[in-house]
Amino acid sequence: MENLPQDQLNLKRPQERMAKPAILIVDDREENLLALERLLEQTGAVVVKARNGYDALKACLHHEFALALLDVNMPEMDGYELAELMRGERIHSTVPIIFVTAAYRQEVEIFKGYSAGAVDYLVKPLQAEILLNKVKVFLDIYRQKQEINQLNTALAARADELAAANRELDAFNLAVSHDLRSPAINIANFCRIISEKHAASLDEKGRKYLWIIQEESLRMDKLINTLLGFSRLSRQEMVHQEVDLSALARSISHELQLHDPGRRAEFIIAEHLSCRGDQDLLKVALSNLLGNAWKYSAKEALAKIEFGAVNGDNPAPTFYVRDNGVGFNRNYAGKLFKIFQRLHSTADFEGHGVGLVTVERIIQRHGGKIWAESEEGDGATFFFTLK
Ligand SMILES: Nc1ncnc2c1ncn2[C@@H]1O[C@H](COP(=O)(O)OP(=O)(O)O)[C@@H](O)[C@H]1O
Ligand SMILES: [Mg+2]
Repeated sequence: MENLPQDQLNLKRPQERMAKPAILIVDDREENLLALERLLEQTGAVVVKARNGYDALKACLHHEFALALLDVNMPEMDGYELAELMRGERIHSTVPIIFVTAAYRQEVEIFKGYSAGAVDYLVKPLQAEILLNKVKVFLDIYRQKQEINQLNTALAARADELAAANRELDAFNLAVSHDLRSPAINIANFCRIISEKHAASLDEKGRKYLWIIQEESLRMDKLINTLLGFSRLSRQEMVHQEVDLSALARSISHELQLHDPGRRAEFIIAEHLSCRGDQDLLKVALSNLLGNAWKYSAKEALAKIEFGAVNGDNPAPTFYVRDNGVGFNRNYAGKLFKIFQRLHSTADFEGHGVGLVTVERIIQRHGGKIWAESEEGDGATFFFTLK
């Protein structure tokens, strides 16, 4: 390969990216090669010369070419034969080829035969400007392809990282559920044993403190469990189907009343509200919203809880859950959807402050939004959309 001086040989494996794009030029006449090389160097590409098809194929082993300029008329192996052989190799199967021919008219049918990859032609004598313009177009396409490949590689790496992070999170969840929950339960159990078997050796205050420890450790266990549930359902795969939201709301309202039959409450649930979404996740969301409406209206003589939609016929209605309970201070509305944030004390209303952040995550996973309105002491309304 006397036409391939060492400094031009890029001996990286073909699949490795070269910093500069490379152009292969093949012509049996040295003077043509030199003229072409001088011209093409203006494009900033590496120019690799070959004086016959065999040398060209050897060069293909060492380079990934952005473009090949092949003289059609060459002894032994002509430009078309060479193109066929190049296209047979995986790495050069789509390399754009510009055939350089002396007679355009007779060749035009042959060009049409090359359907795979880009093919173009130039008629001798070559006009510098036309040649450079064509080459620049192909080099631009090559650079863009390289960029897309790089982005795809980065994207694939990111997806791998995410999958690894999710696996770590799963392991962490398991550890949390096991390692944190069991001591909390053990504490509660030992408190129970002491209060059952050793109560006599404690005074009134001692028994009270013991009871508090037991209650608090059970609360901690519940909290850990709630957190685990939250992390699980924010990653759980969604199954999209038609969901009857009215039916869901009705069954949730029955459950709430069943658990607290002493309360006087009226549920007003609009008919025929449905959407496309994940049935299980939407049930969790509605349970939280209706559960809150139920909880924060507990002090009303007659609780009134409503589930409906503004623009119910619209393909994207705004749903709402409204109650006539204590409401909240609207200045703190921004805190509602933050984890562990509560606008009411545990003494007034039991809770962990994980419900609304869970609802928001579910609504967001459905492409929707959630917001709330309230007048303190005059009930609250939670609005949400789903896409
Ligand atoms: N229907 C409602 N009426 C009044 N305040 C509400 C209502 N729903 C939620 N909130 C307020 O938002 C806070 C966060 O709600 P949530 O995340 O469900 O936690 P939790 O119910 O466990 O306290 C509650 O502590 C309460 O202060
Ligand atoms: Mg809640």
